[in-house]
Amino acid sequence: MHLEKRVLVTGGAGFLGSHLCERLIAEGAHVICVDNFFTGEHRNLDAIRTHPRFELIRHDVCFPLYIECDEIYNLACPASPIHYQHDPVQTTKTSVSGAINMLGLAKRVKAKVFQASTSEVYGDPQIHPQPESYWGNVNPIGIRSCYDEGKRCAETLFFDYHRQHRLRIKVARIFNTYGPRMHPNDGRVVSSFVVQALSGKDITIFGDGTQTRSFCYVDDLIEGFVRLMESPDDIVGPMNLGNPHEFTIAALAEAVVELTNSSSRIIYRPLPQDDPRQRQPVITLAQETLGWQPAIQLRAGLEKTIAYFEKLLSAGNPRERAVPKSHHEVLAQTRGRA
Ligand SMILES: NC(=O)c1ccc[n+]([C@@H]2O[C@H](COP(=O)([O-])OP(=O)(O)OC[C@H]3O[C@@H](n4cnc5c(N)ncnc54)[C@H](O)[C@@H]3O)[C@@H](O)[C@H]2O)c1
Repeated sequence: MHLEKRVLVTGGAGFLGSHLCERLIAEGAHVICVDNFFTGEHRNLDAIRTHPRFELIRHDVCFPLYIECDEIYNLACPASPIHYQHDPVQTTKTSVSGAINMLGLAKRVKAKVFQASTSEVYGDPQIHPQPESYWGNVNPIGIRSCYDEGKRCAETLFFDYHRQHRLRIKVARIFNTYGPRMHPNDGRVVSSFVVQALSGKDITIFGDGTQTRSFCYVDDLIEGFVRLMESPDDIVGPMNLGNPHEFTIAALAEAVVELTNSSSRIIYRPLPQDDPRQRQPVITLAQETLGWQPAIQLRAGLEKTIAYFEKLLSAGNPRERAVPKSHHEVLAQTRGRA
């Protein structure tokens, strides 16, 4: 018999998901991690794999799931452009069918359900910084649209289930987050710069480096997730979670070079299509309703991230893939072990 809260985390073997699983285990929950290992890694679960309150299910959220649980955190979705553009049709399916399946499950078992949405729903924003009331400026047919529009549609589904079926929902719009267990080769700016600096390669800035990003350390973000999930039922979001402190990409590159004592050069390449120039959250809603705001400074977070990548790279990291397995390969494995 389960006396603890049973919490389902989809995408639990990924960067954010594995930190969330650890946090929930530490709080005494029974955690069921669901992942198809498209971008997730078994090593991310090393600290909790054998814990008696931890279960791992290899499953693709595009297919229905029938289990008992009290809360669902729906994080399953490749998050970096390299990964989500690898199989864009599958990315949209994961966002949309995954949301439908998790909402359906939440409805059946009367669970509270949290959606990991994204600042990408704002697209290339015409107002800056972005409050939750901004509807965004998204290209519906570009190469990033599978992710941006998939996440927008998932938000629509969450709010329709809330209105139509009175589901208890929590929608977080996550801004750039970094920390240990980011993928080393996924082209995201923090991991790319750190890996390039540690391996003495040129640090590549796309564009002129004046575009800005706000970077939130993973522990701060997970604190926001848990607070949002535990907030009263009338707090549904969407709620921005991220660090409002803005840095230029060039300043980030310089900080990484300094903290790694690297001799890497900083070089410039053309900006990819649809890359937003500026992204910065307004977090007043999270501050006022959850009493939440990031506490970890960029340099402190970068030090922990650099320490993680140093260990990973020195171990040789033979299993790491720049591009994930094909969807058919993932599906075959998921079905084979189901
Ligand atoms: N990291 C960020 O800065 C950031 C920013 C905005 C939003 N998000 C959102 O947070 C969530 C987690 O992101 P992350 O950075 O941890 O990415 P990640 O790629 O490390 O984790 C995603 C996880 O989902 C799994 N997954 C993918 N498709 C699946 C499917 N069809 N069925 C089951 N599992 C599947 C992957 O194997 C992986 O373990 C994503 O939904 C992402 O869109 C992240």
